[in-house]
Amino acid sequence: MDTLVQNKVLKDAMTVAIVCNQFGDTGKGKFVDLLSTWADVIARGTGGANAGHTIKIGSVEHVFHLIPSGILHDRAGKYNIIGRGVVLDPRVVVKELDLLDKASLPYERLRLSMNAKLVLPQHLVMDRIKEAKSGKEIGTTGRGIGPCYEDHTGRRGLVLNDILNRDVFVRKLKRNLAHHNTVLSTLDPDMQFTKKIMEHEHLANGAYFSQTQRFDLDVIVEMYATTYAGRIGAMITDTEARLRDYVGRKKILLEGAQGYLLSVDYGSHPYVTSSDASIEGLAKGVGIRVRDVDLVLGIVKAPYMTRVGVGPFPTEYGGERSEKHCQAEGMTIDLEQELYFDNALHHDNEFLRGIAIRKIGGEKGATTGRPRRVGRLDLPLLRYSTQTNGNKVILTKLDVFDDADKIEICKAYVYKGPAYRMGKYTLKQGHILFCAPQDPEILKHCEPIYGKLPGWNQKTPGIRTYEELPQKMRDLVEYIERKAKVEVVMISLGPEREQTIVRGGAAGIRS
Ligand code: IMP
Repeated sequence: MDTLVQNKVLKDAMTVAIVCNQFGDTGKGKFVDLLSTWADVIARGTGGANAGHTIKIGSVEHVFHLIPSGILHDRAGKYNIIGRGVVLDPRVVVKELDLLDKASLPYERLRLSMNAKLVLPQHLVMDRIKEAKSGKEIGTTGRGIGPCYEDHTGRRGLVLNDILNRDVFVRKLKRNLAHHNTVLSTLDPDMQFTKKIMEHEHLANGAYFSQTQRFDLDVIVEMYATTYAGRIGAMITDTEARLRDYVGRKKILLEGAQGYLLSVDYGSHPYVTSSDASIEGLAKGVGIRVRDVDLVLGIVKAPYMTRVGVGPFPTEYGGERSEKHCQAEGMTIDLEQELYFDNALHHDNEFLRGIAIRKIGGEKGATTGRPRRVGRLDLPLLRYSTQTNGNKVILTKLDVFDDADKIEICKAYVYKGPAYRMGKYTLKQGHILFCAPQDPEILKHCEPIYGKLPGWNQKTPGIRTYEELPQKMRDLVEYIERKAKVEVVMISLGPEREQTIVRGGAAGIRS
């Protein structure tokens, strides 16, 4: 498998990136793992503990949020890097290191960028208060991601290296807390929300709370500048300089986080995360140039796709009902199993079909445990993502539809909303759109036009070559290629490495 991927897909590439062309959760982890054997260095450059990938340690599966999945290859001499674009919560890193220690797995070559943005207790508090007060407007993961990036662009943030310089840390922390205290004094004047949120285990079970100051500066300083600095200090370094030096000399694998459609720059604002999840954000987030990346592989779930959290999703099975159901307080994928029954994949009721897809595809948020919203593959959105991420794609999860009798793919949208000004141009009812608009005011009024293809009704996870795939599945793959002008270089039919079909790279070699 590894040589096949190397010969047919990677060829002479030295820097390869894995990104997601949808809303995240497309199966990047499997491909990062697959290519980690090839790479000398694996680096993350965006997002934070909002991401989640499952790492199997012995027979137990653990969800890791910050440390790249490539850490399992540390023993083989590979470096794992968390880059400057990441918002890094030391508590999460330490927890993940503890898990590795417990399993006697080494992490000698793990390096953390001195410029990574430091996640502090006030970021988690602010994230959770804002969500609670707005009735979960965005549906964030509650990991402090937005507020930490806001501090960075607001020029009051701290970076990881600050925990190694106590005086600098205290000075910057005071200034930062002054800002958050001012905002919180309006949002939560009697501190009841703050107190409750700070009792969470992610906030040291209330240890950071002060009845008089709101945040106990001394306890935070002690935890960050002593405990965390002691534990991770030696891993902190100038990772950007190291990566720049490696470009063209060592094999670098860049691991994207989230997905293009959640990018703060390209996604449907405000229903996005706070980092740029495109290849541009990823390259910048590890400190190299986009043009240093030889090959970008964009992952695409097909023939369905998923979204976690709030925001327009034109092809959603069961529409608004499904969206509300997935976001209901306390709803988990385990709870909804009661609604599942055999053959639900063929049911006329879209809401029930959505439940079937979630069950067969195991579509449960790794970080939150929430059921993921499911919809049909949306080509206007794919055309939009590939404008930046390039046209080489990997299709995942096709096997989920092995038993489906029909497949619907969104080919274009028809606009159904009120007249909407876009500069000189006015978008009107009935206009057809082939490429998705970024503006959610437009996207929410886009009605999909579906192309219908027959299902293949055959189990596929054991198939290893493209030629052996059912003709109808190949027709679907080639339909996607034709309609979205992409090149499908690999196809994933299950979680195992072997369940991967390698088609080839730019030269068009087909196995
Ligand atoms: P935040 O990144 O926690 O601020 O959340 C903002 C939005 O991005 C929410 O809709 C989240 O559900 C979504 N989100 C963040 N990280 C992920 C991810 O790794 N997979 C899928 N959705 C995500």
